[in-house]
Amino acid sequence: MTQNVRILAIETSCDETSVSVIDNGTQLISNSVLSQIDSHKRFGGVVPEVASRHHVENMTLMIEDALQNASCTMDDIDAIAVTQGPGLIGALLVGVNAAKALAFAHQKPLIPVHHIAGHVYANQLEGTLTFPLIALIVSGGHTELVYMKDHLDFEIIGETRDDAVGEAYDKVARTIGLPYPGGPHVDRLAQEGEDTYAFPRVWLETDSYDFSFSGLKSAVINKLHNLKQKGETPIPQNVATSFQNSVVEVLVGKAIKACEAYQVNQLIVAGGVASNHGLRSALLKATSDRGITLTIPKASLCTDNAAMIGAAAYHIYQKGIVADLDLNGKSQMDIEMYRS
Ligand code: KG4
Ligand code: ZN
Repeated sequence: MTQNVRILAIETSCDETSVSVIDNGTQLISNSVLSQIDSHKRFGGVVPEVASRHHVENMTLMIEDALQNASCTMDDIDAIAVTQGPGLIGALLVGVNAAKALAFAHQKPLIPVHHIAGHVYANQLEGTLTFPLIALIVSGGHTELVYMKDHLDFEIIGETRDDAVGEAYDKVARTIGLPYPGGPHVDRLAQEGEDTYAFPRVWLETDSYDFSFSGLKSAVINKLHNLKQKGETPIPQNVATSFQNSVVEVLVGKAIKACEAYQVNQLIVAGGVASNHGLRSALLKATSDRGITLTIPKASLCTDNAAMIGAAAYHIYQKGIVADLDLNGKSQMDIEMYRS
């Protein structure tokens, strides 16, 4: 294995077309991200077919942009990494095919990457990972607590039994009339309101690290419905604060409990919801009270980007995992796949 590994990484699993150039999984050279949010907004959510078409339009532009920003050419690249899944299959296929074409044309190794492994490794661009650690994964499609004894050794110790936390944010946002994606809007309103609606905290069984958010989501919808029936107007800021407090209390409570039970000194946070202000400050307080090191990527690396895919790809490549040119996208993938 060469000492210095420069990876060109591609991410197209949902509604961001992104290409990054990164050295040794830690030194970010360039990270080009083109969000399609403005296009999907009018539909209130991501339309898979529209996403695929935008990826096709933008893929080569983003490859050129990332190389240009890194002041290098394909000759300087050692390997190509790509998100294989999970995600929208049509969207994934655009990235996978672009990566295969580059790998074939330039005779470079092809590294397949699990999207959520990428989210976890965004933390490597923020600080050092010291094992064992606990990763709290909070994205639009995933809510998991993962114990990691070593690189890529993802052991799921808890997961959502229904909605992912980002999904709950987006649904609550829609109920209070906020645009897609609702998470950042609810977050913003939550900073201006008060916790007046006393929504439930769903802890499940005492020994469980699992989550459930569908009951909370229904509680919010029912509350708004009841107020409307009584002719009362809900205060959106207070709805947002009350909802966010319930989510954050459970996420932080379970993450801290896991850190203590598994005797780890570092908690890392991954996924779009990791940029939530309420979650970040509650985690900061809870970890500093207990001497646990908290690492959270900066906001631009919490949502989908290729830099995180390149960061994870470095370790996947070190493990000797490379794909053939028959690599296919996968809408579902198990994050425990890298455990040996
Ligand atoms: O990780 P991500 O970019 O995509 C997936 O892999 O799913 O996460 C997107 C999710 C969306 O549900 C979005 O509403 C949510 O992350 N999100 C937030 C915030 N920023 C993004 N949720 C709460 N607060 C935020 N500040
Ligand atoms: Zn994601």
